[in-house]
Amino acid sequence: MQKRNATLGSPGKQAAGEAAARLVDDGSVIGLGTGSTTAFAIKAIGRRIDEGIDVLAVVTSYQSEMLAIEAGIPLTTLAEHPELDITIDGADQVDADLNVIKGGGAAHTKEKVVAFSSDQFVVVVDGSKMKEQLDHFVPIEVLPYAKELVMRCVHELGGEPRLRLASQKDGPVITDNGNFVIDAAFGTIDNVEALSISLSMCPGVVEHGIFTDVVDAVFIGNTDGSVKRLDTL
Ligand code: 5RP
Repeated sequence: MQKRNATLGSPGKQAAGEAAARLVDDGSVIGLGTGSTTAFAIKAIGRRIDEGIDVLAVVTSYQSEMLAIEAGIPLTTLAEHPELDITIDGADQVDADLNVIKGGGAAHTKEKVVAFSSDQFVVVVDGSKMKEQLDHFVPIEVLPYAKELVMRCVHELGGEPRLRLASQKDGPVITDNGNFVIDAAFGTIDNVEALSISLSMCPGVVEHGIFTDVVDAVFIGNTDGSVKRLDTL
């Protein structure tokens, strides 16, 4: 089975992550997302700290915590710093209105909290993630106790739910928060906002991976190393 972050060496991801890392100002408190594209940003921020800037970071997963420690980025918490200057994070898909679907790494609950705690939320992707309309499956973190109910909600909303299974453990993926993930396929999502609200209303949903009205900018890295920036109007 192919590992999720097999594209760690993607030049587009690297270009986007490193370009976004240049937005981090000296003295800022930042949020660090999760995934292979964000990993490039975290390493680049670590290099900027070596060069002399001062930064504190809130992480969104065990993965980003480990990468931040390795990169020498001092950590803090939302309890100590509830308002962040900037968060850099990846995405599984981005549409023309800069709505995004996240959660491929099952970290979207903390990622959403950190995104909404930030003055600026910057998404880093390669070109393969851009789509006119969202049609990627929506990851939904659920309380294990509520798995059946949430699957029924997804069916009622016209989706096809599938419990995410682990690849190097028997049984389901367990998130960093101790929950399950249901991946829900809806085909092309015509009304992103409505689906986002409906999913949030299902009891037992901890958080889903649709992020609307929160992205400030998207950095799209190309294989030739160039980066295009899109800003929310
Ligand atoms: C983790 C995420 C990731 O940001 C998203 O899956 C993109 O990952 P990658 O940069 O490895 O393609 O939402 O929950």
